Amino acid sequence: MEPVTKTALVTGASSGIGRATALAFAIAGYRVLATGRDQARLDLLTAAHPDGIETVVGDIDGPKACADLVETCVSRFGRLDVLVNCAGIIKRADVEHTTDADWRSIMGVNLDAPFYLSRAALPHLRETKGRIINVASDWGLRGGEHAAAYCASKGGLVLLTRAMARDHAREGITINAVCPGDVVTPMLEKEAADEGLALSEALKTWDSESPSGRMTQPDEVAALILYLASDAAAQINGTAMLIDGGLCA
Ligand SMILES: NC(=O)c1ccc[n+]([C@@H]2O[C@H](COP(=O)([O-])OP(=O)(O)OC[C@H]3O[C@@H](n4cnc5c(N)ncnc54)[C@H](O)[C@@H]3O)[C@@H](O)[C@H]2O)c1
Repeated sequence: MEPVTKTALVTGASSGIGRATALAFAIAGYRVLATGRDQARLDLLTAAHPDGIETVVGDIDGPKACADLVETCVSRFGRLDVLVNCAGIIKRADVEHTTDADWRSIMGVNLDAPFYLSRAALPHLRETKGRIINVASDWGLRGGEHAAAYCASKGGLVLLTRAMARDHAREGITINAVCPGDVVTPMLEKEAADEGLALSEALKTWDSESPSGRMTQPDEVAALILYLASDAAAQINGTAMLIDGGLCA
């Protein structure tokens, strides 16, 4: 019998943790559908690893876009083994300074899209006894300052993960969340700007806040996601795993 090539659908793959995750899965031998909003960055990703990565550019804004993405993956690869919900946005603001539009867009990308993508993916994951890995945050487990909508969205994602894990365990599907602390990605540049901080100063502060003395790198988060997708992780289900250098300890 031909060995099966597993497939992964990774959102937010044009930068940061999503890019590192798409690469890690491709290097591990998966066929990867990497999605993001920036075609030029997605082209750099496929140039970095020409074998195994295909790309789709677009916004994950609503049920149709998410269902179409899952169908694209299944029609190109014939199966879906792993869904990694990594796309996310932040706007640093307390509740009084969060506009209706910011609340909706943060909820739309960080919580609605994982729900729509998971719903569309489940029939295919049932076939493959597949995995969903949601990229939440330490701020999905505790509050952070000036990030009310972001914390609410990530807290919702952690509980969506846990509820789904219970519902689908008997079908052989596992659903977990990873909860990074500060990771060196373009999102941190946005956060520094929102907070009116010089990037170099903000990076020094965030390094020193971690007991490990440094922030986490995207490929360290990608390695955890890849592990959660592996056969060795079959009994890990419904968890929200911190990867934060001890920040929340
Ligand atoms: N960087 C950190 O410190 C940190 C910490 C905890 C959690 N996270 C989470 O990690 C995930 C990845 O973020 P990152 O740090 O790599 O930042 P990033 O900004 O590099 O990546 C976010 C990705 O999401 C994509 N995205 C945003 N809105 C989208 C939309 N509407 N449609 C499609 N794609 C969209 C962006 O294009 C980008 O590729 C996010 O969910 C973020 O909340 C990051």
